[in-house]
Amino acid sequence: MITSKELRNKWISFYESKGHKNIGAVSLIGDGSTGVMFNVAGMQPLMPYLLGKPHPAGKRLCNVQGCVRTVDIDSVGDGSHFTFFEMMGNWSLGDYFKKEKTAWSFEILTKALGFEKDRLCCTVFEGNGSAPRDEETATLLQSLGIQKDHIFFLPKEDNWWELEGTVGTPCGPDNEWFYPIKNKDNPVFPDDYVEIGNDVYMQYKKTETGYEPLENKNVDTGFGFDRMLLFLNGLTDGYQTDLFLPVIEKLESLAGKSYAAGGEAQKAMRIVADHTRTAVMLIGDEQGILPSNVGAGYILRRLMRRAIRYCRSLGVSSDAMLAAAEIFIDDVYGEAYPILKEKRGYVLDEMKKEATRFEATLAQGIKEFDKCIQGIARKNEFMRKNNPAYKDEKVIGGKQAFRLYDTYGFPLELTEELAAEHGLSVDTAGFDAAFKEHQEKSRVLNKGEAKGGLESHSEKATAYHTATHLLNAALKQVLSPDCNQKGSNITDERMRFDFNFPRPMTEEEIGAVENLVNEKIRENIPVVYKEMSIGEARKENFVGVFDSKYGDTVKTYSIGEFSKEMCGGPHVASTGVLGKFRIVKEQSSSAGVRRIKAVLE
Ligand code: ALA
Repeated sequence: MITSKELRNKWISFYESKGHKNIGAVSLIGDGSTGVMFNVAGMQPLMPYLLGKPHPAGKRLCNVQGCVRTVDIDSVGDGSHFTFFEMMGNWSLGDYFKKEKTAWSFEILTKALGFEKDRLCCTVFEGNGSAPRDEETATLLQSLGIQKDHIFFLPKEDNWWELEGTVGTPCGPDNEWFYPIKNKDNPVFPDDYVEIGNDVYMQYKKTETGYEPLENKNVDTGFGFDRMLLFLNGLTDGYQTDLFLPVIEKLESLAGKSYAAGGEAQKAMRIVADHTRTAVMLIGDEQGILPSNVGAGYILRRLMRRAIRYCRSLGVSSDAMLAAAEIFIDDVYGEAYPILKEKRGYVLDEMKKEATRFEATLAQGIKEFDKCIQGIARKNEFMRKNNPAYKDEKVIGGKQAFRLYDTYGFPLELTEELAAEHGLSVDTAGFDAAFKEHQEKSRVLNKGEAKGGLESHSEKATAYHTATHLLNAALKQVLSPDCNQKGSNITDERMRFDFNFPRPMTEEEIGAVENLVNEKIRENIPVVYKEMSIGEARKENFVGVFDSKYGDTVKTYSIGEFSKEMCGGPHVASTGVLGKFRIVKEQSSSAGVRRIKAVLE
């Protein structure tokens, strides 16, 4: 038995004994430089140093780094997929290379961690037009004692490591390490083996068209921490290590169900545990994020809402998620991540808030969903009675799915997941059609109103005017609450909007603002006009210039809770009519003021 704490210490002390400095873990939130939202590999924060910038801690570094990968979110629940995991890493920044690295990986595996050398298998790069066949590493491995027929040369798909979808990033051929988990007396490669880690010889830079050599010959090592803990303890279920066990036991006792019995309850416990852990890490991070409807915040929201749904399927409330969060902070990760202890109260509060928000909608929406299901069941029963050849209806109609979306705030994917649990699918094309029809109706409705009172303003200009309100609110949410409108200019073709902000927006931020505005358009929120006293407007956090020129009463327009502005109008009746919002340009206007040009399509 080896504990997670012992494994952390072993990794770090081994590499410290080889002259490495422990740089500790950094934020899980991507810095925007690669377009990747979260840290997906231990090397990610080290990118500038792998490209040649001197690192303040020297040329030999090590750490245990958290990573978040959510591409496999739908596979979580099977015992081997996780949305958060840690990677044990070490790096040479233009210092040692293949000779030392092969020897140290071999030494830590066989001496410090007790892997049997005759069972280890390795793969190396077979070579292509970009980089040569890695005979050197194969020869070194053999000289250390890895059997010749345990070393395999494989192509780029297997033995080349790079961050997908990026350019300008370091990459290179790698040497992967494997150990048998099945058929132990006579294992066959690769079927009976699993990868335990890899050493990347990071000596190239990815360009638009191919690869160019780097000046530095670096090493980038990554060994999966959670996975290693599993092997070293002879386990096969990732939820049975000390990283999860206390949480699983808590869920068992709260739900009064057995994890070992398997089935749906086991799957649900795994999903609650995994998603809660990732949520704790993301909110408790040094650059912590909160659930929202855009970007990283949306992924966090999705994880938490999924965790809550699976709490319900276990027959417990979202308090079970909070209990799990407490255990992760207090008993599992607090020591390795002291910031979680510092932010404990905040993390739990924010999780509670999101749970409350979601549970209110969920309870109503699920009732409505159940009605749909019962309706389908009744129809099937009736039809079968009358027609023995009848085939059961197995699809939830697009209109029903749209109603769940429109009235109960159910994302389509949630309806699809719930439907799948009942062996049903959702008519997504019908959903899209219902969505369009609804938009069209609002447009017609709005035209009628425009004729009634707004003749003097063109319909298009009115739409742009409402869009400036959405943009103003979105900028505050995505960039900073301190962003304020500094001017605007509207024609029938476009809008211009000036606001204070000290630097150009990144592409990611522009995308997030566009998405948020479009999200609010899709939600088709009514634009509500109200006159009130200045005092009232202030109290209700309306934005605008509080100036005597407004007189005692002011005209206000609110778009749900999202946007509240003092303004003379006119505005569209409901955001759904705006179409699609697109930012065409973001540029400097004057010192400290940025200018956005945008269109409605
Ligand atoms: N960068 C390598 C990985 O993530 C070590 O596997």
